[in-house]
Amino acid sequence: MADCLSLNHVSAGYAETVVLEDLSLTLPEGGTLAVLGRNGVGKTTLMATVMGHTTVHSGDISFLGKNLRTMPVHRRAASGIGYVPQEREIFHSLTVEENLTVAEQPGEWNIARVYELFPRLAERRRNMGNHLSGGEQQMLAVGRALMSNPRLILMDEPLEGLAPVIIDLLVAAFHRLREADGLTIVLVEQYARLALEFAERAIVLDRGRIVHDGPSEELRNAPDRLAALFGVVG
Ligand SMILES: Nc1ncnc2c1ncn2[C@@H]1O[C@H](COP(=O)(O)OP(=O)(O)O)[C@@H](O)[C@H]1O
Ligand SMILES: [Mg+2]
Repeated sequence: MADCLSLNHVSAGYAETVVLEDLSLTLPEGGTLAVLGRNGVGKTTLMATVMGHTTVHSGDISFLGKNLRTMPVHRRAASGIGYVPQEREIFHSLTVEENLTVAEQPGEWNIARVYELFPRLAERRRNMGNHLSGGEQQMLAVGRALMSNPRLILMDEPLEGLAPVIIDLLVAAFHRLREADGLTIVLVEQYARLALEFAERAIVLDRGRIVHDGPSEELRNAPDRLAALFGVVG
């Protein structure tokens, strides 16, 4: 399969500060990747680097064969990268439906399909963004990313702080995106177990570097190794 996303010896950060160091990663089309690691290791910075929100000091980044380093930030979403930011960043003064339509780009995903994936959003379609539960906001953030008809979706801790029943609902939706739509999915998670069950491959970051890269199965079957990578002792 063709490469979807490729980072080649990328160092990036904020102004002169380097957060990610010499990071290389290639993800095939339709691949699913879990990005794991403790707080502050650079998971969000990695997503932000793909979206063009950081300073890239060296290395190359490409998406479906196109050079991302030279692509203006506003063109990245339009070129097929969906982003579900850690802070969700939905528009509080717009309704659910307006939040979705502002992101619309031509393709198979539209309002009807997003409502079918998340019936809860259809029920709340006229609610303002600030009158939603955390779970509904997260569904909206995912739905909005889908409205741009992405080939790659980056989700930054989408399950953070949500009730187990909502987590199950979102994970079921992620499975549908992978199986029915063949989307390439990058899932940043603190919930290592859920992410390792979902994604076929996992990387673990520590202080801006990849300290583990392999099939998720490896870590699923080795809780001690996982604990060691996360720096948890005992
Ligand atoms: N906007 C920013 N400006 C400067 N430093 C930042 C900024 N955002 C994050 N950092 C720093 O980059 C490092 C990695 O942060 P982040 O990517 O948010 O980690 P994670 O998502 O894994 O918790 C941290 O040391 C953090 O303080
Ligand atoms: Mg983060």
